[in-house]
Amino acid sequence: MDDARNPYTPGAGLKPVELVGRDPQLRAVAVLRERTANQLVGRSVMLHGLRGVGKTVLLREMQNRLEAADWLTVAIEAQSERRAGQQVRRQLERGLVAGARRMQTRAERFSDKLHTALATISSFTVDVGVKLKVDLEPTKGRADSGDLELDLPELVADITPALQAAGIGFAVFADEIQDLDRETLAALLSTQHQAVQQGWPFYLFGAGLPSVPATLADVRPYAERQFEYHSIGQLSKAEAAEAYAGPAARSGARFDTDALSSLVDASAGYPYFVQEFGAHTWRAAAGPEVITVQDAILGRLSGGEALDSGFFLARWERATKSEQRLMQAMALDSGPSAVQDLVSRLGKRKLQDLSVTRSALIAKGLLYAPARGELAFTVPHMATYIMRRDDWSVHG
Ligand SMILES: Nc1ncnc2c1ncn2[C@@H]1O[C@H](COP(=O)(O)OP(=O)(O)O)[C@@H](O)[C@H]1O
Ligand SMILES: [Mg+2]
Repeated sequence: MDDARNPYTPGAGLKPVELVGRDPQLRAVAVLRERTANQLVGRSVMLHGLRGVGKTVLLREMQNRLEAADWLTVAIEAQSERRAGQQVRRQLERGLVAGARRMQTRAERFSDKLHTALATISSFTVDVGVKLKVDLEPTKGRADSGDLELDLPELVADITPALQAAGIGFAVFADEIQDLDRETLAALLSTQHQAVQQGWPFYLFGAGLPSVPATLADVRPYAERQFEYHSIGQLSKAEAAEAYAGPAARSGARFDTDALSSLVDASAGYPYFVQEFGAHTWRAAAGPEVITVQDAILGRLSGGEALDSGFFLARWERATKSEQRLMQAMALDSGPSAVQDLVSRLGKRKLQDLSVTRSALIAKGLLYAPARGELAFTVPHMATYIMRRDDWSVHG
């Protein structure tokens, strides 16, 4: 059928036509928003899960909803290069300036406190070289030390009273939060910790790999109680069916029952796979209205090929030969692998013989450690992909 009406969106961070199965998370954001409107503190949300389950689009939807409720929101992105902390600070600065500008346009909603807030944003952001159109000098000595762990609490202390009075808050959104440098992460966590104790509406929202709760607890032990942690995983069969059928209906098409259940099975409930199989089935379908089981079979075939040559291959090729051998050894396990087993499978002698490869693969975001002494793929179905490859061999 006509690709111009193809309603599926395979691709990292691409907003789906229907965001299926995320009501609990969106509800948590609504509760925080309502509590803030009632001058109460609440808890922000931390999303964790494998690649392709829909964390990025959900995090962005949360930001959009708070922004629509007039909150001051800033998105930051983890950086892997050196001076990562500096980069994140620049993002915070730019985001604050943009947010402050939006606030200025609705200044009548705020008290005089808004002026103090804007002046502090000016001093926090002197380096950006963007002048806020306020007839105020930056407040000297406030939030301008250059050390985020000192500046961020001051900034939050100065700007949140104005927001709080208006029943709104300040929220920072960090995607791929496991890649954030330790200092920035510590600054964000400790600022939120102080904020909650003081009753200031400042919240950090994040998304990252399944190891995120452990990573945060490692940086600041109290992080465990700071968030509502939501594990984002596979959609149920009914939700996956909705993720296929909903967008199709909006584009004027529907699935035969068998076609739908075949596609639900193919996706195993993973949103990325739903979008890929959906897009390919749509293209394969003769139409004009009904998508048949024949179309679904074709869509499964070409969707599967597209996943192999895109989603999976891109990750595989990010690894060196020896890293690939480690992943081949892991593919034998149906769940997480015990590093000890990998040592013997690869003919090594001790755990340390694998530690460089292991760390490199974790740094590349291909593996994570679900528990001490264990390793798992961050990409769903990576093991079966590896076994499908021509170069598959048990001993590497
Ligand atoms: N709730 C959902 N329902 C249907 N499709 C979704 C949903 N969430 C994400 N998707 C789709 O899944 C893919 C991966 O989403 P993304 O947010 O990039 O995942 P992650 O950040 O977890 O890797 C995208 O193609 C997106 O359109
Ligand atoms: Mg993502």
